[in-house]
Amino acid sequence: MTFRQLKPQIQTIVSHKRQEVDEKLYAICELLKVNVPHYNWVGFYFRNGDKEELKLGPYVGEPTDHTIIPFGKGICGQVAMSNQNFVVPDVSAQDNYIACSITVKAEIVIPIFVNGNNIGQIDIDSNTPDPFTEEDERFLEFVCTQVATLFS
Ligand code: SME
Repeated sequence: MTFRQLKPQIQTIVSHKRQEVDEKLYAICELLKVNVPHYNWVGFYFRNGDKEELKLGPYVGEPTDHTIIPFGKGICGQVAMSNQNFVVPDVSAQDNYIACSITVKAEIVIPIFVNGNNIGQIDIDSNTPDPFTEEDERFLEFVCTQVATLFS
């Protein structure tokens, strides 16, 4: 399925009545993992209260030990501080990287902003080397903008 086809489905999930936020986030993870062949692990991390750390939220894919990630650590922890998209074409070339699975070749992390504050991120791992393009970035920015509406 193309990103153009997925966008209205994201909007449908977000606007669903009588559903918890975590259920919606999980549904988004599932939608993306099932329909985008190079998305092999899809999850959300959010700032853990006032702490300088991220906490794992809903995700789809292999279970990970990294349920808490301090700010600055790994790709996710760096995005928590930089407020910038981070596209990693080859995870083996990164010094500050937290490995979750040996099958992962690439990663993309896009921050989620609510009222200008970086509240968390979507994190996607791929088993395909160098799979992410600017199209992924624009699409995932759209997803994050939609997700942000659940927190405002
Ligand atoms: N690789 C991430 C850790 C999270 S896992 O990908 C689920 C990182 O370096 O921050």
